[in-house]
Amino acid sequence: MTNAARALMKRIETEGQVNGEVIKVDRFLNHMVDPQLIHLMADQFADQFRTTDVTKILTAETSGIMLAQAVALKLEVPFIYAKKKKPLTMGDYYAAASYSFTKQESTTLYVSQEVLAQGEKVLFIDDFFAKGSTLKAIEEILDQAEAELVGTAVIINKSARRDIASILTLEDLS
Ligand code: G4P
Repeated sequence: MTNAARALMKRIETEGQVNGEVIKVDRFLNHMVDPQLIHLMADQFADQFRTTDVTKILTAETSGIMLAQAVALKLEVPFIYAKKKKPLTMGDYYAAASYSFTKQESTTLYVSQEVLAQGEKVLFIDDFFAKGSTLKAIEEILDQAEAELVGTAVIINKSARRDIASILTLEDLS
């Protein structure tokens, strides 16, 4: 187990909760946020993706933003957060819808064409990977932009997919 995994596991045991497939992390990850824990997890992903020539990191509002920024800082690339509401000032854009089974709601993700160019190598970062609907929307946006997905990294992978980098899986927490 990595340093980041040990630290995250300890926080879930002491301040979180696991209710079946839903993990409560709002005292250190997605409401109150521990920047040192984020920094530790970012170290792991930066090491893992340092050799993949990532040109940009992409995440979706809101809870992926802190980790995306921390990894971006270490890899010395910019990060983009896909918006869930299209700002009036956004010109041409890429967009894709995703349905969250966890939240039982549909959202559209928007990325301005100004910030994502053809041929970019993109690392997608998020807090949870559940059914993969956010990743699917991100893949649609990358297709529209003719950009390449070079990896996906999430804090907790709740799926059986093992091609996704994560700090912990649901199995680790069982
Ligand atoms: P999927 O994209 O992989 O299909 O996942 P799903 O739609 O089921 O879940 C995505 C949303 O649900 C995300 O929030 C994510 O943070 C949240 N989520 C999923 N599993 C858990 C969990 O076990 N615990 C907690 N606390 N949240 C979970 P979002 O809609 O993107 O909103 P935001 O919170 O990032 O603003």
